[in-house]
Amino acid sequence: MSVDLLLGLQWGDEGKGKIVDVLTEHYDIIARFQGGPNAGHTLEFEGIKHVLHTIPSGIFHPNAINLIGNGVVIDPIIFKKELENLAPYNIDFYTKLLISKKAHLILPTHRLLDAASEASKGKAKIGSTLKGIGPTYMDKTGRNGLRVGDVLTKSWIDRYQILTQKHLKMLNFHNVELEYDLSELESQFFESIETLKKCQIIDSENYLHQAQDAGKKILAEGAQGSLLDIDFGTYPYVTSSSTTAAGACIGLGVAPNKIKEVFGIFKAYTTRVGSGPFPTELFDEIGKRIGKNGHEYGATTGRARRCGWIDLIALKYSIRVNGVTQLMMMKGDVLSGIETIKVCNQYKTKKGIYNYFPFDINDESVSPQYIELPGWEEDLTKINSVDKLPKNFINYIHFLERELMTPIKIVSVGPDRKQTILR
Ligand code: IMP
Repeated sequence: MSVDLLLGLQWGDEGKGKIVDVLTEHYDIIARFQGGPNAGHTLEFEGIKHVLHTIPSGIFHPNAINLIGNGVVIDPIIFKKELENLAPYNIDFYTKLLISKKAHLILPTHRLLDAASEASKGKAKIGSTLKGIGPTYMDKTGRNGLRVGDVLTKSWIDRYQILTQKHLKMLNFHNVELEYDLSELESQFFESIETLKKCQIIDSENYLHQAQDAGKKILAEGAQGSLLDIDFGTYPYVTSSSTTAAGACIGLGVAPNKIKEVFGIFKAYTTRVGSGPFPTELFDEIGKRIGKNGHEYGATTGRARRCGWIDLIALKYSIRVNGVTQLMMMKGDVLSGIETIKVCNQYKTKKGIYNYFPFDINDESVSPQYIELPGWEEDLTKINSVDKLPKNFINYIHFLERELMTPIKIVSVGPDRKQTILR
């Protein structure tokens, strides 16, 4: 049986949580493959908004199994809070939620190191969510990390102490003022480890192999966006994991030839939170209007997101890197009432015109070249079928499909599950 994959094509916050929630009824297993609590997946139904950080977005469906894969990094403290927030929904976590033994643990000192590293960078800071993501992946690739399966062994406390001592020395090296109470952080951490231990901690790749043999339908859920990928993103202003399609193979143990559909999600415009290049960023009233109407504030940090026009150079690159087979366009409703919509189809730089996403994307001379399309006045949020969508909005969709050479199969016109139009 094949595995489908869903990921963001921009700088994250495309609306993956909502679409996974909508698609879950067609799947037996939803599996997160990378990232950690830097993610904030927002789901809305029956008038209530839910934000998930580590738990996969299929958790509200009665029948789906939700799996946290080996590629994910878990902060037990945040994980415990997530479980507590979901307590009113009577979800049976002990049967519905599975955790890979190979997923790495975010320790309290990883968070301190993240804060120290950012503070020491000054103006060059990444704009990290400060959840300890970078230092945890550094320990993973440095072969020093602690994994979820380790907490079931006797020697793990010793290994914890050795790693923490090393981190404290590294903190001194950064030479920045940080206020923290490590014993308080550690007491929360060890209490949360006990909660984690009550969950099913498994050899998740073996579970997924057996599930495939049994014909189960699996959806791999990405976090962040392709332009934040450690290799293909706008380095160094990226996250520390592989957010692109190959990350699903690494982060779950799924073979490349088992992946079938690759669902690529993008917003009808672009946003970015944190530092780094963003060629189509708007600094004018339209940018502010998109931010306000789109409620563009980070689900994890509450920071205001930077907003701009859609960028076809970036989208074509992401589609190519991921092998996207179907597109899903989110938040078209936010652009209602803007007279002229701009679409970037080239970058101009000191070195000439670029029709592809270049290494020197961080170069300040990159300036976007635009095509203009007529906007639409109509409110889209109550529309529930394709034939009721305004003509200029349909034109926008057709234009994007032609340029991106990929069909747009879902159009989302609001945050609720119900505000989803299938094409
Ligand atoms: P980190 O992954 O927390 O270290 O953050 C690195 C960069 O990725 C920063 O610019 C963050 O704002 C960005 N980032 C991390 N997670 C997300 C996300 O879920 N949505 C959007 N941006 C994110």
